[in-house]
Amino acid sequence: MSSTEICKLDDVPDNDAKGMVAEVDGKQRNIFVARKGEQAFAYLNWCPHNQVLIDQIPNKFFNADYSLIQCSKHGALFQIEDGLCVEGPCEGESLKSLTTSVENGMICLVE
Ligand code: FES
Repeated sequence: MSSTEICKLDDVPDNDAKGMVAEVDGKQRNIFVARKGEQAFAYLNWCPHNQVLIDQIPNKFFNADYSLIQCSKHGALFQIEDGLCVEGPCEGESLKSLTTSVENGMICLVE
């Protein structure tokens, strides 16, 4: 198992998310990291409905009250903690989650 630093925890605003490019399975991929306090949740930036970036408006990953991740194409809503789609055209499907850890103020991807 290897761990790769991708950004500082403080680079991601609390209760919000930030998009970036990171190596996943040996390929450069668009990902995003959602933050809740000291916890970070990372996903491929790829909607399971139409295979497009979640943030058609750059870095807009959340719904209006920041309670759920929202795809800006057709509005599908996903739980922050596990990426499950709870409403929208891909309900029941999930974002592809990436394992993270937070160490010494840095968010790491664990593969
Ligand atoms: S592309 Fe994301 S909800 Fe349709």
